[in-house]
Amino acid sequence: PRKIIIDTDPGQDDAVAILLALASPEDIEVLGITAVAGNVPLALTETNARKVCELAGRPDVKVFAGCDRPLAHTLVTAEHVHGKTGLDGPDLPAPVMPLQDGHGVDFIVDTLRAEAPGSVTLCPLGPLTNIATAFQRAPDIVEKVQEIVLMGGAYFEVGNITPAAEFNIYVDPEAAEIVFRAGAPIVVMPLDVTHKALVTTPRNEAFRALGTPVGVAVAQMTDFFERFDKEKYGSEGAPLHDPCVTAYLLRPELFTGRHINVEIETGSKLTRGMTVADWWGVTDRATNATFMGDIDADGFFALLTERLARL
Ligand code: BDR
Ligand code: CA
Repeated sequence: PRKIIIDTDPGQDDAVAILLALASPEDIEVLGITAVAGNVPLALTETNARKVCELAGRPDVKVFAGCDRPLAHTLVTAEHVHGKTGLDGPDLPAPVMPLQDGHGVDFIVDTLRAEAPGSVTLCPLGPLTNIATAFQRAPDIVEKVQEIVLMGGAYFEVGNITPAAEFNIYVDPEAAEIVFRAGAPIVVMPLDVTHKALVTTPRNEAFRALGTPVGVAVAQMTDFFERFDKEKYGSEGAPLHDPCVTAYLLRPELFTGRHINVEIETGSKLTRGMTVADWWGVTDRATNATFMGDIDADGFFALLTERLARL
């Protein structure tokens, strides 16, 4: 199995991404989960990460708390999307499993240092603060990374938190810039992809029909999560942003994109956090990321439902 670290700010869609990874032990070995401040403050994201592990029946997974604020600016959160707890919808019990001692960034650094070059995949599902801090503190770990598969950014879909920027990149553009310039192979799941991974009513009923605590909780999460996108954008259902990352590890052929140059805007007030993606190759800037553009959504939901059924 592929060794991964999930870096996350749960978030209903983060939760589903974690569940998909934990449902797939033959393909994915979760070395640990590092929480970061994002959708809600850190105390909630680390608690939510533990709730999700317990829901999956995996209280043995190591969960660490990482950075509680972005590198250079104050934290922007998204309770308007995810609710007060960040995981509104299901009524999950307070976690019993412990939070690990030590800082999430130290866990990332120590874990990568102990592994062979090119052997660990990082899966950031929130702002890139933890990953950037780890790379800054220990540049030697970059070569240990097999791939960074992250949810963030947008090109044709532009923005969801400002007209120009996607939430994860917007919250910590300075961190994103460090990560995109680090030199590790990067796969990006932008809004262009995730806005096609919509939980329509039949897809959500398929989760509920699993009849398991996991299936029911996932249906309740998307019930809550989708009210925002339905009201705001008139979309057919909630976009399952973050599970695109874990689905890519299992079935990369579900996604298509281009290997291009992607730069992060950190200066402009108006477009801060924009992913300036050279989709059409109009510059001679060096390529640094595979920027996905399309998804086989039916294949994605079939995979997700089949795997969640195992938990
Ligand atoms: C991203 O922002 C968060 O609200 C979601 O969890 C996802 O990671 C989408 O822009
Ligand atoms: Ca997230």
